[in-house]
Amino acid sequence: MSITIKGLSHYYPNGKKALNDINLEIPSGMFGLLGPNGAGKSTLMRILVTLMEPSEGEIDVCGYDIRTQRKEVRRILGYLPQDFRFFAKYKVREFLDYAAALTGMTNSSQRSKAVDAMLEQVGLYEVRDRYAQNLSGGMKRRLGIAQALIHNPKVLVVDEPTTGLDPEERIRFRNLLSEASSKDTTIILSTHIVGDISSSCADMAMLNQGHVMFTGSPADMLKETEGKVWRLKVNNEQYADINQKYAVISTIPDGLGWDIQVVAKSLPGYDAVSYPPNLEHAYVYFMEVKDKD
Ligand SMILES: Nc1ncnc2c1ncn2[C@@H]1O[C@H](COP(=O)(O)OP(=O)(O)O)[C@@H](O)[C@H]1O
Ligand SMILES: [Mg+2]
Repeated sequence: MSITIKGLSHYYPNGKKALNDINLEIPSGMFGLLGPNGAGKSTLMRILVTLMEPSEGEIDVCGYDIRTQRKEVRRILGYLPQDFRFFAKYKVREFLDYAAALTGMTNSSQRSKAVDAMLEQVGLYEVRDRYAQNLSGGMKRRLGIAQALIHNPKVLVVDEPTTGLDPEERIRFRNLLSEASSKDTTIILSTHIVGDISSSCADMAMLNQGHVMFTGSPADMLKETEGKVWRLKVNNEQYADINQKYAVISTIPDGLGWDIQVVAKSLPGYDAVSYPPNLEHAYVYFMEVKDKD
């Protein structure tokens, strides 16, 4: 169960090139798509779920061609869009029942059972009679996942589901996704939050301005960043110089100067000690440092 993306590019009608020759192999399990705003994450996801046809390239989803076998692809897909909203008239349970009916569950007693089981799974059974619109942000996101999972999809695509959630809800949401992932399911999670990836995804890709900057495991990403993080004490003048040339990622006042951390290939002329990287450092390295001299 995997997804293969070859030579994928996408231009919007206004000429904006949102994706530029993307090549990716997405295995089963949790896959993280990390990148800042405007990187192309939503564009890639909308193409994957067949809402948009790509300008160029090929995508195979579990053996189905995204261009010629849309119906088959849709049948095995669940999708939670970035801007998911609920109609005012639906209560939680009604909404999920409606979503289930849309996926072709026509037997109403079977559907009812599936809906209740899903509400239990995402922790919303107690609030089943509330209007969906009035749920908290975290609950809305969980109901969004419930509608995406109701037909047991092989591939689940979730676009920035943790944005705006408080830390507790974020953790709860990530655990919910981890529970839903298995050998036979692929979950693609997009996020601009490094912590979402490090704590749940075995494989990942980093996207920036339509380009894949890195693909591999979070551990591989850390490994490539080893020896690129520096810690040093500087005076004001040195600080100004370093800040102009390098990516400064932490600044703490220290006497009359500063105790700083910098991501750079090297820091010639400065007496810096190498510092063990974390994923935030790695993110900065791949985004801002690696491809520059
Ligand atoms: N409908 C559209 N028309 C023109 N440009 C768009 C459209 N949607 C997105 N873009 C542009 O494409 C790029 C990628 O956008 P998007 O895929 O939404 O990125 P992300 O989800 O990573 O924030 C951005 O520069 C964005 O402004
Ligand atoms: Mg987006």
